[in-house]
Amino acid sequence: MTRFKSTSLLNKIESAPPDRILGLTDIFNKDANPKKVNLTVGIYKDNFGKVATFPSVKRAQDLVNKNYQSFQSLTYLPINGNQDYSKNVLDFIWNDSCQGLAHNYLLNDKINFVQTLSGTGAVALAAKFLSKFISKTIWVPNYSWSNHLNIFKENGFQYIKPYNYYDDSNGTISVDEWLSNLKLNRSQTDITSPQCILLHACCHNPTGIDPTKEQWKTIINTIYELNMVPIIDMAYQGLESGNLIDDAYLLRTCLSKGDWPNGLYLCQSFAKNMGLYGERVGSLSIVTPLNSNSNTNLNIDSQLKPIIRSFYSSPPGYGSHVANQVLLNKDLKLQWFNDVQNMVNRLKIIRLNLFNNLKWHDLIDFERQHGMFYFTRFTLKQVHHLRNKYAIYLTDDGRLSLSGINDSNIDYVSEALYEVAKL
Ligand SMILES: Cc1ncc(COP(=O)(O)O)c(C=O)c1O
Repeated sequence: MTRFKSTSLLNKIESAPPDRILGLTDIFNKDANPKKVNLTVGIYKDNFGKVATFPSVKRAQDLVNKNYQSFQSLTYLPINGNQDYSKNVLDFIWNDSCQGLAHNYLLNDKINFVQTLSGTGAVALAAKFLSKFISKTIWVPNYSWSNHLNIFKENGFQYIKPYNYYDDSNGTISVDEWLSNLKLNRSQTDITSPQCILLHACCHNPTGIDPTKEQWKTIINTIYELNMVPIIDMAYQGLESGNLIDDAYLLRTCLSKGDWPNGLYLCQSFAKNMGLYGERVGSLSIVTPLNSNSNTNLNIDSQLKPIIRSFYSSPPGYGSHVANQVLLNKDLKLQWFNDVQNMVNRLKIIRLNLFNNLKWHDLIDFERQHGMFYFTRFTLKQVHHLRNKYAIYLTDDGRLSLSGINDSNIDYVSEALYEVAKL
């Protein structure tokens, strides 16, 4: 028997690098420094460092807990998810958030909708579907959420191309360069074969800087002309302006353009804007052209189901019941809008307080800087110095998650940032 031991393929498996974001929390947890501060993960924390439940969500939970028997308790959900949730999320996203622009698509059943395992599950499902049926090429901004590359690589894309999004030299976004990248490539490829492009709906992760609404119009016109397929990743709806509806401007811009021949894809998450992180509550919508064949949407639905079935069979129930309660109860929905506004107000106060200590003007450039992250533009060496000397943890790209800063650590963090910026 022993002679087979050395031929085991298992022994040839190499160690993979730890996750670029969550791997750091493991290291943080082992750090013995009592002053340590974790500013890596995109989780909203209150001024006491707690991941507090939003009041609206707490009330929704109470209702769900009381009525849980009537949700048939712990039974499986259908493959495409909780049907009440689907109806109410569809209504919130495509009616409320799109202010009438998706009316005809809803009326004609041209939107395929499934509940997903939060935003990550939505992006993974879209990736698998698109790479199987539409295109194996996708453009992703440089920088982007580190998991994007991982997801696209693992789910069928053969060509993952970066587009120039951010100019490191001056901390601005480079829309002209981005669009000329795309135009040049499309002039050299067969324009009749579609290519996919990932767009961050708002609060770009990690830079926190989004194109202006005017710039988005130009971008969307260009990618439309280049026969590209937009995948909108909307993980932070509400965290830019504090207003959930206002923040869906990219969706509205895409819809204003008209039909997208190969579909408009929306990956949406309630992790951040309802604080339902661990419950994994999100959705994927595919908007097909109004003149698509009468069986197109049924066929799409039938193809999504086996993908989901092979991934995880069906999504979890509890979080979807909670999100559904928030959306269907007028009172709770109103309170949710306030909760999101309060979160954004606190993020702005943190930026102001940091600015008061550091005098870094871009911290309070509220026109351009959005969401829960501040991009320090620190080099890897600076990020490591901050981690090793001060036990303050940012992601390696220099992204800082603002809500980890509070009254009890702001002076320590400011001092350390000030010192490290000098290096
Ligand atoms: C840009 C972006 N997309 C998607 C996600 C997915 O989040 P979740 O799967 O927790 O909904 C995140 C989370 O950090 C993100 O930053």
